[in-house]
Amino acid sequence: MARIVRDRLNGLLRQAILAAVANRTVRRFVRRYGMRLGASRFVAGETLDDAVRAIRGLNERGLLANTTLLGELIRDPDEARAVAGTYEGVVQRLVDEGLRANVALKLTHLGLALDEELAFENVARVVSRAAELGSFVRIDMEESEWVDATLRIYRRLRDAGSENVGIVLQAYLYRSEVDLASLLQLRPNVRLVKGAYLEPPDVAYPRKQDVDAAFVRLLERSLRESGFTAVATHDERLIEHAIAFAAREGIERERFQFQLLYGVRPQLQLDLVRRGYEVLVATPYGPEWYPYLMRRLAERPANLLFFVRSLLAR
Ligand code: FDA
Repeated sequence: MARIVRDRLNGLLRQAILAAVANRTVRRFVRRYGMRLGASRFVAGETLDDAVRAIRGLNERGLLANTTLLGELIRDPDEARAVAGTYEGVVQRLVDEGLRANVALKLTHLGLALDEELAFENVARVVSRAAELGSFVRIDMEESEWVDATLRIYRRLRDAGSENVGIVLQAYLYRSEVDLASLLQLRPNVRLVKGAYLEPPDVAYPRKQDVDAAFVRLLERSLRESGFTAVATHDERLIEHAIAFAAREGIERERFQFQLLYGVRPQLQLDLVRRGYEVLVATPYGPEWYPYLMRRLAERPANLLFFVRSLLAR
C-alpha cells in the first residue's frame, strides 16, 4: 500500500517537474543558480575541458564513458551543422587524449526538427569521422514524435556500411518490442532505457511496473539476439536480472555492458566494475544543461531535496 502511494506521488511530482521545463520563470531561476545549486552533480561542466577531466577520472577508476554536448531542438540549419562540426572535434579530442570514451548525440540537436536530410548528413559526418578514428557514436532516443525518423536514419547509416553506430530503445513505448524485432537482422548495438520524457498513455505505459516488465522482455530478447546490448538503468533489480539471465543463457560478457548516468549511483558503478562487468558512465557537458537536469530531477523527485538542501546551505 505504502509503495503504491509513494509511486503515485512520485509519478505526480515527475509530471509536475517535466511540465515545469517549459516554464520561463523556473527556467530562468534554475539556469541562473542551478550549476551552483547542484547541477554539477549530474553534468561534467560547461566546457569540453571539464568533460575531459571528468572522463579521465572515470577511466582511472576502471569506468568507460561517453559524452554529449547538451542541447536539443536546434531550429537553425547553420547551427545544426556547427554542432556536427563540434562533435567531430569532440571525437578527435577524446582520441587525442587517449580516453576510453565515445560520443552520444541527439538528432534534434543536429537539425532533425528542421529537416531529416540535414540531420542525416550531419550525423553521417560525425559517424564517418569516428570510424576513421576507430571510435563509436550512439544516437540517443528523444520524444516519441522523433522515433520513426531516428530509426530511419539509423538504418540508412547501417545500410551505408557504418558499423560504429548504435541506437536506443525506450521500454515505456508500446512500439519498442516491435522496433527491436525489426532491427535484429542488423545485429544492432542497442542501448535499452526505461524512457525519460513525458509521454501520453496512448504511446507509453503509464505504470512503472509495466515499464519494468517491458524492459525485462526487451532485455532478454536483445541479450539473446542483438549484436551488443547496453543495459542502461540504475535499477538494481534489472541489473541483477541481466547478470543472472546472461549467466544462465551463456551470453559472454563482451556482448553487453551496463550504462549509468554521471552522478547517479556512483558506488553501484564501481561495484559492477569490481565484479568484472564493463560499465560506461554517460557524462554530458555544455551550457545547455537545463532540460537534461530537469529530466534527472523528474526521474527521482527525491533529488529535489538535494537541491533544496544546497539552497538552504548557502
Ligand atoms: P528508475 O527510474 O526506476 O530508478 C531506479 C533507481 O535508480 C531509483 O530508485 C534510484 O535509486 C536510482 N535513480 C534513477 N534515476 C535517478 C536519478 N536521476 N538520480 C538519482 N537516482 C536515480 N532516456 C531516453 O528517453 N533516451 C535516451 O537516449 C536515454 N539515454 C540514457 C543513457 C543512460 C546511460 C542512462 C542510464 C539513461 C538514459 N536515459 C535515456 C534515461 C532513462 O530513460 C531513465 O529515465 C533513467 O535511466 C531512470 O530510470 P532507471 O532505469 O534508472 O530506473
